[in-house]
Amino acid sequence: NKLEMELEAIEKGGYEHFMLKEINEQPRSIADCMRGRLDAKNGRLILGGLRDYMNKFQNADRIIITACGTSWHAGLVAEYLFEEFARIPVEVEYASEFRYRNPVISEKDFVIAISQSGETADTLAAIELAKSKGATIFGVCNVVGSSIARATHAGCYTHAGPEIGVASTKAFTAQISVLTMMALMLGYQRGTLTESKYVQLLNELEGIPGKVEKALKMNSNVEKIAEIYKDSRNFLYLGRGYNFPVALEGALKLKEISYIHAEGYPAAEMKHGPIALIDEEMPVVFIATKDTSYEKVVSNIQEVKARKGKIIAVVTEGDTVVRGMADHVLEIPDTAEAFVPLLSVIPLQQLSYHIAVMRGCNVDQPRNLAKSVTVE
Ligand code: G6P
Repeated sequence: NKLEMELEAIEKGGYEHFMLKEINEQPRSIADCMRGRLDAKNGRLILGGLRDYMNKFQNADRIIITACGTSWHAGLVAEYLFEEFARIPVEVEYASEFRYRNPVISEKDFVIAISQSGETADTLAAIELAKSKGATIFGVCNVVGSSIARATHAGCYTHAGPEIGVASTKAFTAQISVLTMMALMLGYQRGTLTESKYVQLLNELEGIPGKVEKALKMNSNVEKIAEIYKDSRNFLYLGRGYNFPVALEGALKLKEISYIHAEGYPAAEMKHGPIALIDEEMPVVFIATKDTSYEKVVSNIQEVKARKGKIIAVVTEGDTVVRGMADHVLEIPDTAEAFVPLLSVIPLQQLSYHIAVMRGCNVDQPRNLAKSVTVE
C-alpha cells in the first residue's frame, strides 16, 4: 500500500536501494562501531564486552572462529589479524561443517561466533556444541538481543545499525572493525605488539572512516566498468594475504545479487585450476594493493594478461605499475596492510551493485536468498 511504500522510501534515505544506502553508510557505521571504544589520541582501546574474558582470551591455546556466508569471510580476515598481532593459532570454520564433524574442542579454546542477524541456525548450533565442551564463546553480532548474542558468554556488538539488503555490506566492515580492535587489544596485552606499533595502528584505524569515504568516490568509475562487463557470464576474483578473503567476498556479492557465476581464489592458486578458464571473455578482478604480496600479485596479473583475460584491478592510490598492465584500475587510499580489507571491499560492493541494477535484478531481495537463515 501507499503508506508502506512511502515509509520505505523514507527508510531508503533517498537511495534507490537499501544496498546502496548501506554501502554509502560505511564511513558512519565503521565510526559508530569504534565510537567509545577507540581513543587513539590517548592510546586507549576498550571493548567492554571483553573485559571479564580478557584473561581467557589472552591465554587461549587456540581461537576458533565460526560463522556462515559473509560473516565467515570476516572470520577469515580475523585469522590473519589474530595470527599477525597476537600470535595465537586460529581456525576458521563454516558453522555447518563444524557442528557435524565431532570437532576437537577444549576449555582452552576461545570460540568467536560472527553473525550479523544473530539468528543463523548453524552458527547457533555450533555455539551450543562448543559450549558443551567447555570452551569460552564470544559473539560478534549486529542485532542487539539476538539469539546468538544471548547464547554466548560475552560479546561485542558491531553497531552498524539495521541492515536490510540481503547482501551484507556494512555489517561486514563493522565485523572486521570489531575483530581488528580485538586483535590489537590482544596483541598489546600479550606483548606481541609493541607499544609504539600499537599506538601507530590505533591512529591509523581511527582514520579508516575518512578513507572509506574516499574509497566510495570511485563509484562513477565502478559504474563505467559495470557497464562494460554486465553481460559477462563468469568473473574471477583474486587476491593474496589480507585480500584473499576480500576476493571471496567480492565474488559472493556478485553471485548473490547479479546471478553471475563468480569465483574468488587466492591469486597464487590460480595456476592450479582457474587459469584454465581464462580467455578474452573472462574478466578478472585483482586486488593488488601495495602490501607485502604486491610483487607476487603483479606477476599473477601478468599471467592473466598473457592469456588475454580482462583485468580490473583495485590498487593503492598513485600506483603506476598495475595501471600500466590492467584494463581498468580502481584506486583506494593507502593504509596499514592489516586494514586494507576495510577499503578494498568497497569498490567490489559497488561493482556487484551496479552490475545487478543494470541486469534488472532485485538487488535488495535476490531470488532464493534470505537475510537470515534460521533453518539448517
Ligand atoms: C545469509 C545471508 C548472508 C549472510 C549469512 C550469514 O546467507 O544472506 O548475507 O552472510 O546468512 O548470516 P549472519 O546473520 O549469521 O551473519
